[in-house]
Amino acid sequence: NKKAFIFDLDGVIVDTARYHYLAWQKIAQELNIDFTLEHNELLKGVSRVRSLDIILELGKVEASQEDKNRWLIQKNEEYLSYLVDMDQSEILPGVIAMLTFLKEKNQPIALGSASKNARPILEKTGIMQYFDVIVDGNDVTNAKPDPEVFLIAAKLLGAKPEDAIVFEDSVAGVQAANIGNMTSIGIGEETTLYEAKYIYPDFTHIDMSFIEGLINK
Ligand code: BG6
Ligand code: MG
Repeated sequence: NKKAFIFDLDGVIVDTARYHYLAWQKIAQELNIDFTLEHNELLKGVSRVRSLDIILELGKVEASQEDKNRWLIQKNEEYLSYLVDMDQSEILPGVIAMLTFLKEKNQPIALGSASKNARPILEKTGIMQYFDVIVDGNDVTNAKPDPEVFLIAAKLLGAKPEDAIVFEDSVAGVQAANIGNMTSIGIGEETTLYEAKYIYPDFTHIDMSFIEGLINK
Protein backbone atom coordinates (compact mmCIF):
# COMPACT_ATOMS: atom_id res chain seq x y z
CA ASN A 1 0.00 0.00 0.00
CA LYS A 2 1.10 3.52 -0.76
CA LYS A 3 0.09 6.37 1.47
CA ALA A 4 1.37 9.94 1.56
CA PHE A 5 3.36 11.03 4.59
CA ILE A 6 3.42 14.78 5.05
CA PHE A 7 5.72 16.46 7.55
CA ASP A 8 5.39 19.95 8.92
CA LEU A 9 8.83 21.53 9.38
CA ASP A 10 9.07 23.99 12.27
CA GLY A 11 8.67 22.16 15.57
CA VAL A 12 8.33 18.75 13.90
CA ILE A 13 11.60 18.20 12.03
CA VAL A 14 13.68 20.97 13.59
CA ASP A 15 13.37 22.94 16.78
CA THR A 16 12.91 26.22 14.93
CA ALA A 17 9.61 26.92 16.73
CA ARG A 18 11.86 28.21 19.53
CA TYR A 19 13.66 30.60 17.17
CA HIS A 20 10.41 31.92 15.72
CA TYR A 21 9.28 32.61 19.28
CA LEU A 22 12.49 34.41 20.25
CA ALA A 23 12.38 36.54 17.12
CA TRP A 24 8.74 37.53 17.64
CA GLN A 25 9.38 38.22 21.29
CA LYS A 26 11.96 40.82 20.33
CA ILE A 27 9.41 42.64 18.17
CA ALA A 28 6.76 42.36 20.88
CA GLN A 29 9.16 43.78 23.47
CA GLU A 30 9.92 46.78 21.29
CA LEU A 31 6.21 47.41 20.98
CA ASN A 32 5.63 46.86 24.69
CA ILE A 33 3.31 43.95 24.01
CA ASP A 34 3.09 41.14 26.51
CA PHE A 35 3.84 38.00 24.53
CA THR A 36 4.05 34.71 26.40
CA LEU A 37 4.77 31.09 25.47
CA GLU A 38 1.04 30.47 25.68
CA HIS A 39 0.34 33.24 23.18
CA ASN A 40 3.02 31.66 21.00
CA GLU A 41 0.90 28.54 20.48
CA LEU A 42 -1.46 30.74 18.44
CA LEU A 43 1.40 31.59 16.09
CA LYS A 44 2.59 28.06 15.42
CA GLY A 45 1.86 26.94 11.88
CA VAL A 46 0.59 30.42 11.03
CA SER A 47 2.12 32.55 8.26
CA ARG A 48 4.54 35.36 9.02
CA VAL A 49 2.08 38.10 8.04
CA ARG A 50 -0.76 36.63 10.08
CA SER A 51 1.55 36.09 13.06
CA LEU A 52 2.36 39.80 13.20
CA ASP A 53 -1.33 40.66 13.03
CA ILE A 54 -2.04 38.33 15.95
CA ILE A 55 0.69 39.96 18.04
CA LEU A 56 -0.60 43.45 17.22
CA GLU A 57 -4.13 42.35 18.12
CA LEU A 58 -2.85 41.00 21.45
CA GLY A 59 -1.37 44.41 22.23
CA LYS A 60 -4.29 46.29 20.69
CA VAL A 61 -1.75 48.11 18.53
CA GLU A 62 -2.81 49.68 15.26
CA ALA A 63 -0.05 50.11 12.74
CA SER A 64 0.50 51.38 9.21
CA GLN A 65 1.36 48.95 6.44
CA GLU A 66 4.78 50.59 6.29
CA ASP A 67 5.49 49.83 9.95
CA LYS A 68 4.20 46.28 9.55
CA ASN A 69 6.47 45.65 6.57
CA ARG A 70 9.43 46.91 8.57
CA TRP A 71 8.65 44.61 11.50
CA LEU A 72 8.18 41.64 9.18
CA ILE A 73 11.62 42.20 7.70
CA GLN A 74 13.12 42.77 11.16
CA LYS A 75 11.55 39.55 12.47
CA ASN A 76 12.84 37.49 9.58
CA GLU A 77 16.36 38.94 9.88
CA GLU A 78 16.39 38.11 13.57
CA TYR A 79 15.06 34.62 12.82
CA LEU A 80 17.63 34.02 10.08
CA SER A 81 20.42 35.00 12.46
CA TYR A 82 19.54 31.90 14.51
CA LEU A 83 19.78 29.71 11.42
CA VAL A 84 23.29 30.72 10.37
CA ASP A 85 25.02 27.90 12.23
CA MET A 86 22.23 25.37 11.81
CA ASP A 87 23.26 21.82 10.95
CA GLN A 88 22.12 18.20 11.23
CA SER A 89 22.40 18.31 15.03
CA GLU A 90 19.23 20.41 15.21
CA ILE A 91 17.04 17.72 13.74
CA LEU A 92 14.63 16.57 16.43
CA PRO A 93 14.97 13.08 17.99
CA GLY A 94 13.63 10.17 15.96
CA VAL A 95 13.00 12.17 12.79
CA ILE A 96 15.78 10.59 10.70
CA ALA A 97 14.75 7.11 11.86
CA MET A 98 11.17 7.81 10.76
CA LEU A 99 12.20 9.21 7.37
CA THR A 100 14.51 6.24 6.82
CA PHE A 101 11.79 3.76 7.78
CA LEU A 102 9.28 5.37 5.39
CA LYS A 103 11.83 5.30 2.57
CA GLU A 104 12.50 1.61 3.21
CA LYS A 105 8.75 1.03 2.96
CA ASN A 106 8.63 2.94 -0.36
CA GLN A 107 6.29 5.55 1.05
CA PRO A 108 5.97 8.94 -0.67
CA ILE A 109 7.12 11.78 1.59
CA ALA A 110 6.30 15.49 1.43
CA LEU A 111 7.07 18.61 3.37
CA GLY A 112 4.03 20.79 4.10
CA SER A 113 5.18 23.98 5.78
CA ALA A 114 3.94 27.56 6.11
CA SER A 115 7.51 28.80 6.14
CA LYS A 116 9.20 30.67 3.33
CA ASN A 117 12.53 29.57 4.81
CA ALA A 118 11.85 25.84 4.47
CA ARG A 119 14.26 24.97 1.65
CA PRO A 120 17.40 26.52 3.18
CA ILE A 121 16.60 24.74 6.45
CA LEU A 122 16.31 21.35 4.70
CA GLU A 123 19.60 22.06 2.95
CA LYS A 124 21.45 23.13 6.09
CA THR A 125 20.28 20.08 7.99
CA GLY A 126 21.09 17.80 5.04
CA ILE A 127 17.71 16.08 4.72
CA MET A 128 16.47 17.43 1.40
CA GLN A 129 16.89 14.02 -0.29
CA TYR A 130 14.16 12.39 1.83
CA PHE A 131 11.42 14.55 0.35
CA ASP A 132 9.71 13.69 -2.92
CA VAL A 133 7.75 16.92 -2.78
CA ILE A 134 8.19 20.22 -0.96
CA VAL A 135 5.27 22.58 -0.47
CA ASP A 136 6.05 25.68 1.58
CA GLY A 137 4.98 29.24 2.33
CA ASN A 138 5.97 30.30 -1.18
CA ASP A 139 3.46 27.94 -2.79
CA VAL A 140 0.25 28.59 -0.89
CA THR A 141 -2.22 31.45 -0.59
CA ASN A 142 -4.30 30.16 2.32
CA ALA A 143 -2.56 29.63 5.66
CA LYS A 144 -3.24 26.71 8.03
CA PRO A 145 -5.84 25.83 9.38
CA ASP A 146 -6.80 26.00 5.70
CA PRO A 147 -5.77 22.57 4.35
CA GLU A 148 -4.38 24.00 1.08
CA VAL A 149 -0.72 23.22 1.81
CA PHE A 150 -1.45 19.58 2.67
CA LEU A 151 -3.93 19.11 -0.19
CA ILE A 152 -1.33 20.32 -2.70
CA ALA A 153 1.29 18.02 -1.14
CA ALA A 154 -0.98 14.96 -1.28
CA LYS A 155 -1.96 15.73 -4.85
CA LEU A 156 1.66 16.10 -5.95
CA LEU A 157 2.39 12.75 -4.29
CA GLY A 158 -0.53 11.23 -6.20
CA ALA A 159 -2.48 10.34 -3.07
CA LYS A 160 -6.06 10.91 -2.03
CA PRO A 161 -6.46 13.11 1.09
CA GLU A 162 -7.82 10.15 3.08
CA ASP A 163 -4.57 8.29 2.37
CA ALA A 164 -2.44 11.14 3.69
CA ILE A 165 -0.88 11.13 7.14
CA VAL A 166 0.24 14.46 8.55
CA PHE A 167 2.76 15.09 11.34
CA GLU A 168 2.11 18.45 13.03
CA ASP A 169 3.14 20.31 16.19
CA SER A 170 0.65 23.16 15.85
CA VAL A 171 -3.05 23.46 16.58
CA ALA A 172 -3.61 25.22 13.24
CA GLY A 173 -1.78 22.43 11.42
CA VAL A 174 -3.69 19.63 13.14
CA GLN A 175 -6.92 21.42 12.24
CA ALA A 176 -5.75 21.80 8.63
CA ALA A 177 -5.09 18.06 8.37
CA ASN A 178 -8.47 17.25 9.94
CA ILE A 179 -10.34 19.66 7.69
CA GLY A 180 -8.52 18.14 4.71
CA ASN A 181 -9.83 14.71 5.73
CA MET A 182 -6.34 13.41 6.47
CA THR A 183 -4.97 11.43 9.42
CA SER A 184 -3.44 13.92 11.87
CA ILE A 185 -0.60 12.92 14.16
CA GLY A 186 0.20 15.58 16.74
CA ILE A 187 3.80 15.88 17.88
CA GLY A 188 3.79 17.62 21.23
CA GLU A 189 1.54 17.95 24.25
CA GLU A 190 -1.86 16.36 24.51
CA THR A 191 -3.29 19.39 26.33
CA THR A 192 -2.54 21.51 23.25
CA LEU A 193 -2.98 19.06 20.39
CA TYR A 194 -6.02 17.13 21.61
CA GLU A 195 -7.78 17.60 18.26
CA ALA A 196 -5.24 15.29 16.59
CA LYS A 197 -6.22 11.70 15.80
CA TYR A 198 -3.03 10.46 17.47
CA ILE A 199 -0.63 12.36 19.74
CA TYR A 200 2.99 11.61 20.63
CA PRO A 201 5.46 13.70 22.63
CA ASP A 202 8.09 13.14 19.92
CA PHE A 203 9.10 10.70 17.17
CA THR A 204 11.05 8.42 19.49
CA HIS A 205 7.70 7.47 21.09
CA ILE A 206 6.17 6.32 17.82
CA ASP A 207 6.36 2.60 17.31
CA MET A 208 7.20 1.57 13.74
CA SER A 209 4.55 -1.16 13.97
CA PHE A 210 1.98 1.64 14.41
CA ILE A 211 3.25 3.29 11.21
CA GLU A 212 3.22 -0.07 9.48
CA GLY A 213 -0.41 -0.43 10.54
CA LEU A 214 -1.25 2.93 8.94
CA ILE A 215 0.51 1.91 5.75
CA ASN A 216 -1.43 -1.35 5.51
CA LYS A 217 -4.79 0.14 6.39
C1 BG6 B 1 5.50 28.02 10.37
C2 BG6 B 1 5.85 28.34 11.80
O1 BG6 B 1 6.03 26.77 10.04
O2 BG6 B 1 6.02 28.98 9.48
C3 BG6 B 1 5.43 29.75 12.12
O3 BG6 B 1 5.21 27.44 12.67
C4 BG6 B 1 6.02 30.73 11.12
O4 BG6 B 1 5.85 30.07 13.43
C5 BG6 B 1 5.60 30.31 9.72
O5 BG6 B 1 5.59 32.04 11.37
C6 BG6 B 1 6.18 31.23 8.64
O6 BG6 B 1 7.57 31.05 8.62
P1 BG6 B 1 8.59 32.01 7.90
O7 BG6 B 1 9.90 31.28 8.01
O8 BG6 B 1 8.14 32.15 6.47
O9 BG6 B 1 8.57 33.30 8.61
MG1 MG C 1 5.13 23.54 13.08
